[in-house]
Amino acid sequence: MCSAIAVNAPVGVMDSGVGGLSVLQHLTRQLPHEHFIYFADSAHAPYGNKTATEIQQRCFTIADTLIAKGAKALVVACNTATAAAIAAMRERYSLPIIGMEPAVKPAAAASKNGIIGVLATTGTLKSAQFAALLEHYGQGVQVVTQACVGLVECIEQGQLDTPHTLALLEQYCQPLIAAGADTIVLGCTHYPFVRKHIQTIVGPDVTLIDTGAAVAKRLQQVLEQEQMLNTATEAGDYVFLTSGMEKTGRVMQELWGLTA
Ligand code: DGL
Repeated sequence: MCSAIAVNAPVGVMDSGVGGLSVLQHLTRQLPHEHFIYFADSAHAPYGNKTATEIQQRCFTIADTLIAKGAKALVVACNTATAAAIAAMRERYSLPIIGMEPAVKPAAAASKNGIIGVLATTGTLKSAQFAALLEHYGQGVQVVTQACVGLVECIEQGQLDTPHTLALLEQYCQPLIAAGADTIVLGCTHYPFVRKHIQTIVGPDVTLIDTGAAVAKRLQQVLEQEQMLNTATEAGDYVFLTSGMEKTGRVMQELWGLTA
């Protein structure tokens, strides 16, 4: 249990870049009285093709920054970073750390025909954590995975609707359509920002699932358990930080505007 002094402290939220804003949107809706500090590591994005050791080093650096700014808990709003670094982070830090993983379990439950697709980064799909996830929740369903190389870079540039982005989406969705997936997991926090294009490509009958809402509920549960919930009645503040260039700040503003 943590001291009552911590309740007004912010929750630190981190991602390889701007993608975690799709999670922050759910966090701020679920917990409107909490303060949040969001860190986009855009100077080092994408994480999807980095080694686990490199990702762990970045996560330690960002966590140190957020903790120095008073964070009472951390949300790793990145599937790739969770797979590579959350175990090491939990060993190193004593504050609550919430991570996320592709929504294979809810997708398997939602699928009617037993065929689910997973769009994610190479790092997530190759991780031992993802293999364990499939082992636990992928039994009895056919899981078709697709690494979306280059997509995070497009979204980092704010290129949500360019012909290049649309061509990549078409390319990555086709194998899932061909396999007959009726449920597709958005297994990277950047992808909800191109959700409407994915839905158009795969058609209205395919269900798209991401984990933002589940992570927000989990954060609430953990803060309650730890007696760390902010009891204020006024709305919380948000602070946005990035290791990226000026352009990242503009993209963050645009994407945050889209979540409003
Ligand atoms: N948003 C990160 C995720 O959820 C993107 C990873 C990357 O930077 O490649 O996996």
